[in-house]
Amino acid sequence: MAYRTHTCGELRSENIGQEIILSGWAQKIRNLGGMTFIDIRDRYGISQLFFDEETNADLRSKASKIGREFVLQASGVVRERSNKNPNLDTGDIEIVVNEITVLNKSEVPPFTIEDETDGGEEIRMNYRYLDLRRNPVRDGIILRHKMAKSIRNYLDKSGFIEIETPVLIKSTPEGARDFIVPSRLNAGQFYALPQSPQVFKQLLMVAGYDKYFQVVKCFRDEDFRADRQPEFTQIDCEMAFVEQEDILQTFEGLAKHLFRDVKGVDFKDAFPRMTYKEAMESYGSDKPDLRFCMKINDISEVVKGKDFKIFDEAEYIGGICVEGKASHSRKKIDALTKFVQRPQIGSKGMVYVKCNEDGTFKSSVDKFYSQEDLKLWAETLGAKAGDLLLVLSGTKKQTLFALGELRLEMGNQLELRDKNKFAPLWVVDFPLLEWDEKTNRFHAMHHPFTAPKPEHLELLDTDPVSVNANAYDFVINGSEIGGGSIRIFDKDLQAKMFKTLGFTEEEANAQFGFLMDAFKYGAPPHGGCAFGFDRWVAIFNGSDSIRDVIAFPKNNAGRDVMIDSPAPVSNDQLKDLSLGIVKE
Ligand code: AMO
Repeated sequence: MAYRTHTCGELRSENIGQEIILSGWAQKIRNLGGMTFIDIRDRYGISQLFFDEETNADLRSKASKIGREFVLQASGVVRERSNKNPNLDTGDIEIVVNEITVLNKSEVPPFTIEDETDGGEEIRMNYRYLDLRRNPVRDGIILRHKMAKSIRNYLDKSGFIEIETPVLIKSTPEGARDFIVPSRLNAGQFYALPQSPQVFKQLLMVAGYDKYFQVVKCFRDEDFRADRQPEFTQIDCEMAFVEQEDILQTFEGLAKHLFRDVKGVDFKDAFPRMTYKEAMESYGSDKPDLRFCMKINDISEVVKGKDFKIFDEAEYIGGICVEGKASHSRKKIDALTKFVQRPQIGSKGMVYVKCNEDGTFKSSVDKFYSQEDLKLWAETLGAKAGDLLLVLSGTKKQTLFALGELRLEMGNQLELRDKNKFAPLWVVDFPLLEWDEKTNRFHAMHHPFTAPKPEHLELLDTDPVSVNANAYDFVINGSEIGGGSIRIFDKDLQAKMFKTLGFTEEEANAQFGFLMDAFKYGAPPHGGCAFGFDRWVAIFNGSDSIRDVIAFPKNNAGRDVMIDSPAPVSNDQLKDLSLGIVKE
């Protein structure tokens, strides 16, 4: 006998009268008077099985002993339900069972397999295979599959081919720590796992595969955040004979296709583009959340010179205008001050101005500023009666960052960050280099293969910080979903870039000699980008953490608590690898 003729989510009123067989898990068992109802579940849905004392006492008695999560096979006849459930696709029918087989028993699961479970994060991760049975988790996993399929369809239609690149490689330059793998056959030597396939996709361009993509695992030994995992998936892409505009058009097409195909959202207009400079100055972030406005404005000019020492001495004074919140209580404003004073934000204090409905102003610096002065602030920040101004000062970099965080916090508090609304944009014209105070040298803002804007080439010798790159990020709802650049394809420029980044010629050759060599043999102009697939799925799924959309994620300490990894290895294994563990 076949295990099933239908899935548990499939039967409708059209099937009434049919003999069917279902297999699945017992979600819920209810014994009521002389009847037993069992909800049988598989990944397609839930159907109600019906057993009744009068018709078949033995069968009903057997059914009443079934426990949660038992694996069942039930055959019977579909009939119309007297008590219909409009919330369930199969809610119009039930199955009058004539035979039930317990295919496997189950221990009582450690948490309820329900949408709203009683299981905390830790226990659910320990038993992730049970957590994966729950609807919200399953929906995320299925969404992930749909998105991957939709992306592959689009890229295939656009002439891209998927090519796998190796996982046991050597250090790649994405700026994180590498995961390394000792080599048994080459004692004392190590592979590194790819932080991205960056160098391989560039080599594929040299090889003539002018449109490449790959759905690929990348590995980065970074500190934990809700949108970071040590292993994550990229949609990695590269194209030859293209300029930045070609790449933005191609992948804007991909994004629009995905929005339409998977979310049913149609973006008719081109996605907004914003320079890095504008993003930093107006939103305090290179990944602005454009679901709401509340832009940052520089008010240094209008607040200085009134003997308020803190502002007079500050490099930068900026503010945001919170619409209609002049009524905010002292308590709420104090809490916001505490928010910006948290060590990770680092502001010393916050100044507020309430633009009262009667046209007067009330501020925390009334001692220094007249009503006329405050009116000028309000005008500069575009405020009207009833609005609340929040002002921070300090160094430009820290203050913009703090204002950006404060803006997001206000967005959260005022529920302006609606998960069902999508605000995609491109951030362009990133600086090529970033000065690192700690190491006292330049770092590549994107990676060392990113091309300077041709018109800025000369500045590389005289004024490196003001060189912009042909580099871009793709942002949705304040999350960096992807990034890429036009690459250097000239070996001399690449050598110069390594030198600017403080590599000696020997170091550059040891690490990237193979790429410099390849550039000697006809490298075409090329560029590309990579999307953080987990992040994109999480946004479409309305999830706060990418863990929700990864079948077997790691916890904040980088551990897989289910398989208990990482774990020590045996002394024999260490010996094979010529390794020893140094005890602290
Ligand atoms: P980048 O380092 O910007 O670029 O990575 C591309 C995208 O990958 C996602 N991402 C992550 N997602 C989850 N966990 C992580 N630890 C993590 N790190 C990055 C982000 C990011 O935008 N080779 C270049 C791309 C290129 O130039 O073509 C690269 O890897 O969404």
